[in-house]
Amino acid sequence: MVSRIKFFQEAIKNIKTLGTLTPSSRFLSKKMIRKINFAKADVVVELGPGNGAITKYILERLSPNAILICFEINDNFYDQLEAIQHPQLVVVKASAEKIKEELIKLNISKANYIISSLPLTIIPDEISNEILKKTYQVLEHQGTFVQYQYSLTYYKKLKKVFQESISLEFQVLNIPPAFIYRCKKVE
Ligand SMILES: C[S@@+](CC[C@H](N)C(=O)[O-])C[C@H]1O[C@@H](n2cnc3c(N)ncnc32)[C@H](O)[C@@H]1O
Repeated sequence: MVSRIKFFQEAIKNIKTLGTLTPSSRFLSKKMIRKINFAKADVVVELGPGNGAITKYILERLSPNAILICFEINDNFYDQLEAIQHPQLVVVKASAEKIKEELIKLNISKANYIISSLPLTIIPDEISNEILKKTYQVLEHQGTFVQYQYSLTYYKKLKKVFQESISLEFQVLNIPPAFIYRCKKVE
């Protein structure tokens, strides 16, 4: 409950970068990651983790040698994520459009899964295009990008990048209800 209130306070101040007033429900968080094959995931990246609604479920399931790298631009959320102090968690205070450069700094060239709650529809086009382009570049062959959105408006854009390899799910138990896109890199 406390974390929901803190999220709400942050959202009031930064609605243009958060895009919502409440963190993801446990139902949405679990559905986002339910198809991750954790036994085979060495590198998982999370874009826009906020105060860790999805992060905590990823950390619970990571294999012992795997790593979770989170990209968050909000100072307060960054501090809250750093406070988790999990040995397999790396929190990067940088915009998701720097994903490629930041992974190189960490000596990582490819990610198996990229889980995103970025409010793509309110991020300026030139930035969101760059995020999608670099996300695709750093995904391994057969890697998956998972993104939730509150509408279907982004489907066309995702299709341009991932072509036909997109599946769609819906989670009604969230405020607001959300669509989940699973986009596979097949080339
Ligand atoms: C809708 S909230 C999602 C928070 C959390 N993952 C959840 O599902 O409850 C979006 C998050 O993306 C972050 N964000 C927005 N633009 C970003 C960017 N360009 N790079 C990294 N994080 C960003 C915001 O600060 C916020 O924490």
